[in-house]
Amino acid sequence: MTDTAAIVGGGVIGGGWAARFLLNGWDVRVFDPDAEAARKIGEVLDNARRALPGLSEHALPAEGRLSFHATMSEAVDGARWVQESVPERLELKRKVFQTLQAHCPHDAVIASSTSGFRPSELQACATRPGQILVAHPFNPVYLLPLVELVTTDANPNGMGTRAADILRGLAMYPLHLTREIDAHIADRLLEAVWREALWLIRDGIATTGEIDEAIRMGFGLRWAQMGLFETYRVAGGEAGMRHFMAQFGPCLSEPWTRLMDVPEFTDALVDQIADQSDAQSGAHTIRELERIRDANLVGLMRALKGQNWGAGAFLVAADAARAPAPHFAAEAVAQRPIDQPLETIARAIPLDWSDYNGHMTESRYLQVFGDATDRFMTIVGCDADYIAAGTSFFTAESHIRHLAEAHPGDSIRVTTRFLGGEGAKMHLFHEMRRGDTLLATGEHFLLHVSLDTRRPVAPEGEVAARLAAVARAHAALPRPDGAGRHVGQRT
Ligand SMILES: NC(=O)c1ccc[n+]([C@@H]2O[C@H](COP(=O)([O-])OP(=O)(O)OC[C@H]3O[C@@H](n4cnc5c(N)ncnc54)[C@H](O)[C@@H]3O)[C@@H](O)[C@H]2O)c1
Repeated sequence: MTDTAAIVGGGVIGGGWAARFLLNGWDVRVFDPDAEAARKIGEVLDNARRALPGLSEHALPAEGRLSFHATMSEAVDGARWVQESVPERLELKRKVFQTLQAHCPHDAVIASSTSGFRPSELQACATRPGQILVAHPFNPVYLLPLVELVTTDANPNGMGTRAADILRGLAMYPLHLTREIDAHIADRLLEAVWREALWLIRDGIATTGEIDEAIRMGFGLRWAQMGLFETYRVAGGEAGMRHFMAQFGPCLSEPWTRLMDVPEFTDALVDQIADQSDAQSGAHTIRELERIRDANLVGLMRALKGQNWGAGAFLVAADAARAPAPHFAAEAVAQRPIDQPLETIARAIPLDWSDYNGHMTESRYLQVFGDATDRFMTIVGCDADYIAAGTSFFTAESHIRHLAEAHPGDSIRVTTRFLGGEGAKMHLFHEMRRGDTLLATGEHFLLHVSLDTRRPVAPEGEVAARLAAVARAHAALPRPDGAGRHVGQRT
């Protein structure tokens, strides 16, 4: 049965949560008194559909159903997870919990997105305090993995773990804090930087643009991949963290920072910041900036996946949990018969695969077909262990046909046919589709090679047996349209 999440408050953060749940296969029921809520969430969803699915190397589950409800009681009915994201006012949040606890299942997780309140403050006036915890996400909720999950002694044993498991199922990274504090961890750090930045502007030392350059040209990049302490450890050179503290520790007693004070938000300071921000970024609408931000984040996180590091390592592990069972695995044979073209790729096109024409760039077609070939090799048993033992396949020739445009965010499937092969030869034909639309085909000729001699050698054992089984099964299929074409031939 499909899981159901209720989203109470569908603004910037609630909309992001709605997208995160929906695109991970949950049904989502929204309550928000704002007459514009459906439009706003629709726009967040459009951005999320472009950005999130392509972050994974595997297809996400089928999208859940989205519904809007006139009352909170209707929205939370039957929900397994209720996410409260109403404005940051304690009395409002407490009132909302009173209403929703009267109607939601008693075993539902009720999570608050609050940036500042401790869970005990939210639990204080509740009918069932133990049902409420904090799950503080980061904007854009549909892309960034981190959720600060804060529980108290009022939560029953195991509730934090259960909530963390559910969040991991959404490919989110729960950072579970069992000691509560105002504003949790991340916002305290951010506030320190924010305070310092306000002083730099107020004292006329830097503009909003200069402060942003100081972050994004330098330490912001370091933070994104190593955080604070690992970065400083490296900065300490061979002597590491101790040396770093010996060198820079004494500076902390210098009057470098104005963190203890808060500049007064006079009209003049607010105008100064708003005007500088308009001059810096006003050429783009907020929606455009969101799309630029999303593309940058996807690019960064995909680069970190390549390094298997930080947020990238987390996403690699999340992908592994989504990988389909191999065709020859006992549990997969019934669902994945080999007498049909084999599904070798099911994924969405990432934002960073787009080109100046607004569609998937040429080189990525070869990547997708290359990945499909890799998958086919794994299916027949030519996996990492097999290759490490000394034999593999090398590609000798490729022919790609581009038949229809593919765009970032599109869900694509590749099916693979074994067209022939004797001895060391293997002739594959890949078909890439979006739904029923054939987007491209890739025809490839490979040779099975000894990694010692770099010369062709026929496969043996399990690989030879599986290839023979696929060859027999695919021999009965009609020859695919376009197979054997050469460049420039008329259709
Ligand atoms: N904006 C951020 O970057 C950010 C990040 C993390 C957490 N948060 C937290 O998320 C929560 C929401 O912040 P936001 O930025 O999405 O605010 P927002 O103003 O964009 O959205 C709040 C939404 O709540 C709705 N609302 C108001 N009263 C309601 C009620 N009684 N029942 C249901 N909906 C109601 C509003 O119509 C609005 O759509 C806050 O607690 C905030 O601290 C915000």
